[in-house]
Amino acid sequence: MKKVIAIYPGSFDPPTNGHLDLIERGSKIFDELIVAILRNPDKNPLFSLGERRAMLEALTADFKNVRVDVFDGLTVDYAARVKAGAVLRGIRALSDYEYELQMAMMNRKLQPDLETVFMMPAEQYSYLSSRLVREVAKLGGSIQDLVPEMVERRLREKLDPAIKLQDARKMKPGKRA
Ligand SMILES: Nc1ncnc2c1ncn2[C@@H]1O[C@H](COP(=O)(O)OP(=O)(O)O)[C@@H](O)[C@H]1O
Ligand SMILES: [Mg+2]
Repeated sequence: MKKVIAIYPGSFDPPTNGHLDLIERGSKIFDELIVAILRNPDKNPLFSLGERRAMLEALTADFKNVRVDVFDGLTVDYAARVKAGAVLRGIRALSDYEYELQMAMMNRKLQPDLETVFMMPAEQYSYLSSRLVREVAKLGGSIQDLVPEMVERRLREKLDPAIKLQDARKMKPGKRA
């Protein structure tokens, strides 16, 4: 039987439990899954490509059929280079659907043999995005349970002042953590 390689492209700035949920699901249905970080000159990322790659590699180390890569240019061209037959994308809510459908249709036009496969994360991650995680962390809110501990730590290091404030609040007696 033919092996199906899938790519899971995205920004992963930073990786969240929603991403990891999808990676785990994807690793079960594809023979090989490549988590592909897009080098996007339009976005000004919080974490460098190297930092995101290192985090994703550590977080996916236990999945033997998952590897991490970086790419730029068209997703369809990258897929062809690594001989992928499918693109994995996550759909959280209806709001994701329209944009994802557009992308999938455009990619199909560019490369008819490449299939886009959508998966839904576990319910508790359906409201979770990297952008929200960055915003909440910057304002000193708790992102526990939304990102792996390693990512929480890296965010803490990067956003030192805000996180310190949060820790100080937690210490105050009588206040909810
Ligand atoms: N909480 C989540 N649950 C499921 N899928 C998610 C979640 N967050 C992001 N994704 C999916 O992961 C992929 C990469 O997302 P992201 O890192 O935001 O990069 P992009 O810039 O391509 O949106 C997208 O398909 C997105 O829908
Ligand atoms: Mg996104």
